[in-house]
Amino acid sequence: MAPLSRHCLLLIGTLGVLVLNCCTNGQRNSTLIFTKENTIRNCSCSADVRDCDYSLANLMCSCKTVLPFAVEQTSYNGHLTIWFTDMSTLGHLLNFTLVQDLKLSLCSTNTLPTEYLAICGLKRLRINTEAKYSFPEQSLLIHSTVDSDSKEKPVSLHKGWQTCMYISFLDMTLFNRDSSLRSYSVENIASIADNFPDFSYLKTFPVPNNKSYVVTFIY
Ligand SMILES: *[C@@H]1O[C@H](CO)[C@@H](O)[C@H](O)[C@H]1NC(C)=O
Ligand SMILES: *[C@@H]1O[C@H](CO)[C@@H](O)[C@H](O)[C@H]1NC(C)=O
Ligand SMILES: *[C@@H]1O[C@H](CO)[C@@H](O)[C@H](O)[C@H]1NC(C)=O
Ligand SMILES: *[C@@H]1O[C@H](CO)[C@@H](O)[C@H](O)[C@H]1NC(C)=O
Repeated sequence: MAPLSRHCLLLIGTLGVLVLNCCTNGQRNSTLIFTKENTIRNCSCSADVRDCDYSLANLMCSCKTVLPFAVEQTSYNGHLTIWFTDMSTLGHLLNFTLVQDLKLSLCSTNTLPTEYLAICGLKRLRINTEAKYSFPEQSLLIHSTVDSDSKEKPVSLHKGWQTCMYISFLDMTLFNRDSSLRSYSVENIASIADNFPDFSYLKTFPVPNNKSYVVTFIY
């Protein structure tokens, strides 16, 4: 019996060290925002939660309710996951925000209208439409320039939309299809409206002018 309990103590000790390691390593929680029945919940999660499992998120993460009118344009460091059911709330939460690593999960079978979402500084996008199709999660790497100094945040991240150098336009109808994510980027353009005269909707986007930036379409 004695050796067994010593083993147990050793095991508990090891686990303790592991737990300490995990949490002193500066492993940051990720942000999960989900919308359900006109409620917006903003959560900080230490572990991944299965997409669209609202009750599990409420249980496992530290969440607070956000009033829709209190949502401000903001920036997110690290991972941001959004579970959404309709486009207006998603646009409200995400249009013109600065996000580097984004996961969007459509948690309904709604058909989304033709609208575009503008995001600054997007490096990685993951999409899940499990509620609609049994299509596997998709991932897209947008800027590989990130690799050299992945720890360094782009300068633009703290200065807001007007100084954004990497603009991604997300075609929301991509959630209506069970096809692969595609993207194309155009570099060093001075004005979006001049370079894409056919995309008249872009004129409604307040874009920073008078400098070159990289525009990525995701569709
Ligand atoms: C969600 O919480 C994070 C961290 O507390 C904060 O930075 C972010 O602005 C919040 N987002 C919304 C939409 O409330
Ligand atoms: C990290 O997430 C856990 C729940 O998953 C929560 O209890 C904790 O407060 C969060 N930490 C921070 C710094 O938000
Ligand atoms: C984002 O904002 C632009 C410009 O105001 C608007 O045209 C577009 O519909 C918005 N996108 C969404 C998804 O709300
Ligand atoms: C555009 O850039 C030029 C040269 O950098 C600068 O002199 C000018 O003030 C800028 N215009 C605006 C509107 O920012």
